[in-house]
Amino acid sequence: MEKKEKLYEGKAKVLYKTDNKDLLVQYFKDDTTAFDGAKKEVLEDKGVINCSISTAIFEYLEKNGIKTHFVERLSSREMLVKGCEIIPVEVVVRNIAAGSFSRRYGVKEGTPLKKPLVEYFYKSDELHDPMVCPNHVYLFEWATKEELEEMTNTALKVNELLKKFFDEIGIILVDFKLEFGRHNGEVILADEITPDSCRLWDKSSMEVLDKDRFRKDMGKVVESYKEIYKRIMERYEGMKE
Ligand code: C5P
Repeated sequence: MEKKEKLYEGKAKVLYKTDNKDLLVQYFKDDTTAFDGAKKEVLEDKGVINCSISTAIFEYLEKNGIKTHFVERLSSREMLVKGCEIIPVEVVVRNIAAGSFSRRYGVKEGTPLKKPLVEYFYKSDELHDPMVCPNHVYLFEWATKEELEEMTNTALKVNELLKKFFDEIGIILVDFKLEFGRHNGEVILADEITPDSCRLWDKSSMEVLDKDRFRKDMGKVVESYKEIYKRIMERYEGMKE
């Protein structure tokens, strides 16, 4: 497999074409952004840790029947993925009130939700990712009803799997964001799952271990991501068949 020219560069990742038209290389940068790119820093080694965490999570999800774009890890910062047409709807699942949910509805951060809540956002930096409802998704034809239902069901399944995955390493999964793409007529999980896209709190100390450390200038961002990866390795390494 040969890496070819750059196809797309995002805020935290770059996608490269390969000599196989179905496959892309997803490269994880150290760049870290928040507030639609208004706050930006380069955090040394974040890309390596995020590639490691995302690989471990995609392998775990695939093993548990979730279809993803992940094929294999290629290097410290690169994974091979299936090329897909990204659906411009971000799916957020919440277990505990935090972030924009707390601000929008005046619910104290840390309040458990009675059941997982799924929210949809239109993926547009220019418009600051506005929250949308299914009717917007159908009206603008971002996805069909069948596709959105499948995305929702998969997101809820991923939530159950990841709650367990993190619980076993002493971490609470507060919320997370997923992106999906179309590939050979199927909707598959794409993008990344990392502490950049999840809220993760230590179960005993309630310490924040995710990108909120960067958003809120709490320091020790990469150190916290490394702590998550260390726990994943201690618990799950050697469990792969
Ligand atoms: O900001 P908000 O509370 O809506 O974020 C919910 C979850 O989605 C958080 O885990 C956040 O890190 C993630 N998210 C993301 N990318 C965005 C918006 C939110 O990864 N553009």
